[in-house]
Amino acid sequence: MNEFDQKAQEWDAKPIRVERAHTVAERIKTAVPLSPYMTALEYGCGTGLVSFALQPELGHITLADSSIGMLTVLREKIAAGNIQNTCTAHNRLRYSAGMTPVQLDLITDPLPAERYQLIYTLLTLHHIPDTDKILRAFYQLLDHSGYLCVADLDKEDGTFHEDEFHGHLGFDRKELGARARQVGFQKINFSTVFHMRKDVNGTSKDFPIFLMVAQKS
Ligand SMILES: C[S@@+](CC[C@H](N)C(=O)[O-])C[C@H]1O[C@@H](n2cnc3c(N)ncnc32)[C@H](O)[C@@H]1O
Repeated sequence: MNEFDQKAQEWDAKPIRVERAHTVAERIKTAVPLSPYMTALEYGCGTGLVSFALQPELGHITLADSSIGMLTVLREKIAAGNIQNTCTAHNRLRYSAGMTPVQLDLITDPLPAERYQLIYTLLTLHHIPDTDKILRAFYQLLDHSGYLCVADLDKEDGTFHEDEFHGHLGFDRKELGARARQVGFQKINFSTVFHMRKDVNGTSKDFPIFLMVAQKS
């Protein structure tokens, strides 16, 4: 059982996590022209907080995570929300709606065959040591002109994680943007979308979260 399997049942009980996910979802809505014909992948979805907020404006969403614990909670939420994977008539066209959870680690698993018009990910990239590999996988999984939205921590001094942590201490925006460009993304934009405040040695400390929006060329 990994760290996220252990945290899964209580994940949504912290209001800051819900507020953070909803704020990021709102910023994605303003940055990307969403539509019910758009298929999307949320990577590192956890309990699906971002996707539940975006779902009314999107077509089918695949929610991927490596944690079975997170996916178990997510499946319960999808069932409780009565979200169906059906085709729905909309303006005389048909589109596929619904949410499908999958266990997936793009660093170790083969690339899935599906392609998406939108990929979004919140606070997951800093857990993945090989940034170039995950950006390349996102690029390959997107349709031509598809959008990538990455929300994550700005570079920090290591005090964000209270437990032992071996991932990235946030990201330098210029460096991450350059890596995304190298992979083939274009129209790369960064903005600050949220501020996490944490008590560090008795002092309240600010940890900004950026949103990088990029498009497949
Ligand atoms: C900090 S949590 C964020 C969860 C969710 N995005 C949210 O904001 O509520 C990071 C998530 O990324 C997942 N994760 C970490 N490494 C992963 C990997 N290599 N592949 C897929 N998911 C991963 C974890 O299981 C966890 O659910």
